[in-house]
Amino acid sequence: MEPVKVGLLGLGTVGGGTATVLKRNAEEIARRAGRGIVIDYAANLDLSRAAELGLGDVRLTENAFDVVNDPDIQIVVELIGGYTVARDLVLHAIRSGKHVVTANKALIAMHGNEIFAAAQQQGVMVAFEAAVAGGIPVIKAVREGLAANRIEWLAGIINGTSNFILTEMRDKGRSFGDVLAEAQALGYAEADPTFDIEGVDAGHKLTILSSIAFGIPLQFKQTYTEGISRITSDDVKYATELGYRIKLLGIARRTAAGIEQRVHPTLIPERRLIANVDGVMNAVLVKGDAVGATLYYGAGAGAEPTASAVIADLVDITRALTSDPENRVPHLAFQPSTLTDTAI
Ligand code: HSE
Repeated sequence: MEPVKVGLLGLGTVGGGTATVLKRNAEEIARRAGRGIVIDYAANLDLSRAAELGLGDVRLTENAFDVVNDPDIQIVVELIGGYTVARDLVLHAIRSGKHVVTANKALIAMHGNEIFAAAQQQGVMVAFEAAVAGGIPVIKAVREGLAANRIEWLAGIINGTSNFILTEMRDKGRSFGDVLAEAQALGYAEADPTFDIEGVDAGHKLTILSSIAFGIPLQFKQTYTEGISRITSDDVKYATELGYRIKLLGIARRTAAGIEQRVHPTLIPERRLIANVDGVMNAVLVKGDAVGATLYYGAGAGAEPTASAVIADLVDITRALTSDPENRVPHLAFQPSTLTDTAI
């Protein structure tokens, strides 16, 4: 069977990781997907990056719309970030009948309701596992693994950059600015790192997780966000002396008034598992009425961990395309028409 042809928008940290892992593990990936998955066309402003990544046989363009408009492309992978051009590209891809995979949490949190409605109307799939907690398959875990449960609450460390900064400040006494610069150099931070340190990125991810866990529309505007930018070395030192860790947590829970969504620094007793999640690692606790508390842990940012989630979505979509046509429902997309609750 012919491989599925993927159009890749963006050859940055995650785009590079996706190209590398797709090539390195092509055999395993094809076996799991039921057929091969190849990058056929890629867009990036700097085309010399393609040579660095060994994409010699891939068609290249500086204009992402060339990829979206190409009739051979079946799945568009959006890894350019932001929510203006990315929104236009994703909506255009959907309206052209293409399936979409994105790692773009800002896009999904801000425009997901519109994107999912368009996908549903068009009968295409939109998948976004890489948008939350990097390589941890937490969206799949909540949506599928915990499908039997009424979710009571979830809480997690879902910004790797903030957690890396807090860890290095505590363990090595480094300054906030110095560690942030390293997080940027390592490709962990957002293009605008204020999103990381002001809790906005964690707020986007919490909004997405909460909508899946509680079956509510995506409501970023209803999410309280406070970051770590005002945490000082003294705060970290005193917390440690008192037996606590400071962690930036995203918390969503049911209340009598609706679903509460908040991101803020939190003091956690050092004996708790989540207090010992360090560096760029993420962890998400989810409490369901049947299963009880569950914990998901892994790398929350970085090229290959995030690529792992992007490719898992590609495998899911490819499997659905390759199976019985009756199964080709937009099952990965959220269905706003079924939603009832509201966030507060
Ligand atoms: N800037 C994000 C983080 C990248 O640090 O968690 C992964 O979403």
